[in-house]
Amino acid sequence: MTTDELLARHRAVMPSWMPLYYAEPIEIVAGSGRRVTDAQGRSYLDFFGGVLTNMLGYDVAEVNEAVRRQLGTGVVHTSTLYLIRQQVELAEKIAALSGIPDARVFFTNSGTEANEAALLVATNHRRSNQILAVRNSYHGRSYAAMGITGHRSWSASSLNPLQVSWLHSADRLRGLLSRLGPDEYVEAAVDDLREVLATQTSGDVACLIAEPIQGVGGFVAPPDGLFGAFKKVLDESGILLISDEVQTGWGRTGEHFWGYQAHGVTPDLLTFAKGIGNGFALAGVVGRAEVLNEVHAVSFSTFGGNPISTAAGNAVLDYLLEHDLQANAARVGAVLLAGLRELADRHAIVGAVRGRGLMLGVEFVRPGATEPDPAATARVFEECRRGGLLVGKGGLYGNVVRMGPPLTLTEEEAREALGILAEAVALADAEAGAVADPAH
Ligand SMILES: Cc1ncc(COP(=O)(O)O)c(C=O)c1O
Repeated sequence: MTTDELLARHRAVMPSWMPLYYAEPIEIVAGSGRRVTDAQGRSYLDFFGGVLTNMLGYDVAEVNEAVRRQLGTGVVHTSTLYLIRQQVELAEKIAALSGIPDARVFFTNSGTEANEAALLVATNHRRSNQILAVRNSYHGRSYAAMGITGHRSWSASSLNPLQVSWLHSADRLRGLLSRLGPDEYVEAAVDDLREVLATQTSGDVACLIAEPIQGVGGFVAPPDGLFGAFKKVLDESGILLISDEVQTGWGRTGEHFWGYQAHGVTPDLLTFAKGIGNGFALAGVVGRAEVLNEVHAVSFSTFGGNPISTAAGNAVLDYLLEHDLQANAARVGAVLLAGLRELADRHAIVGAVRGRGLMLGVEFVRPGATEPDPAATARVFEECRRGGLLVGKGGLYGNVVRMGPPLTLTEEEAREALGILAEAVALADAEAGAVADPAH
């Protein structure tokens, strides 16, 4: 079956709202390290890793071995009605790494479910369904997770079990607070939080949920310390802080193991997903016992933390720590960031370069303006693919190229990707210039 035939069959049987990347979609049939191969035999350097999920890369012997060992027992699934040794071991490791005192861990299959679980215990603990969320956020695709998602492209329904009040995003190019420096921004955002609490809530708010770096939102990040400044206000009335670390966790940001650590604060609850399974379905929430135990009914997840996914999770986490991939993310991320900044200096269509470690975004705008340019973004995106580099897309206006490669990325691979990206941006820039000046 050709890729074209597969595409036709995909379109005939899958829902229309599930997007496929690229004008000519790719079927990935093999992978090793940071490289994948498509059905035509073309090789790509993968800088999106299945949306920041293949955190170690492809075909990692230690992870394969751990999963094979579990398969060898004949037990793929038992349900959590029975003891699962590797689930307990992984929970112990995550509890210790979380920085949250007296922590409990509940495993789920996806980031959406992790956030649902966090919202359930936070709203039960506080006896309130009032939530503070951040504009330009993405937290998942259930009703509650969509209800706290501040991003029109991903808001498929207005049905919402929660009462949500919205704080400003930290977009530095546009928006009400965009022109403020970091200190002024923190001050203004805290003033805004107080005003939102005073004007839009009945006071007994359950929690604030926020991503330390907004993933789907185009890697928009607030100034360091913002969550800490928020927490001082939240603590005045016992409002909980949930850090959605689905994209920022496990050392990806280089400087820190968790995104929240840039903010001088410890959250009450932290949600994780994506990278911890390196592709196996594994996610969860970790939080203080007095909060996480607040479910006054029987509740469980049939597949959550199953023997296969937690065998993989333990192997992934051990590998990550033994190879100090956080330090690698900081080191190789710095090479990438420097190269991207040079690109920004050379090309007026690059409106911003931002991010941390191996979570970096490039925002494309009309030359000399802040007007988003999704067409130039799409051009860069397709050209990267043609050059052998897979990247992601995002941002409120679809004008951000996102890079979240495996944390095992080498400096040589970073430089190779920069070369491909430089050619793609030069081409898109030349075309944007030609459109802006049709006489030439
Ligand atoms: C920050 C964040 N939270 C939650 C989710 C939802 O995770 P999942 O797709 O595993 O349900 C995502 C997915 O992209 C995410 O980026």
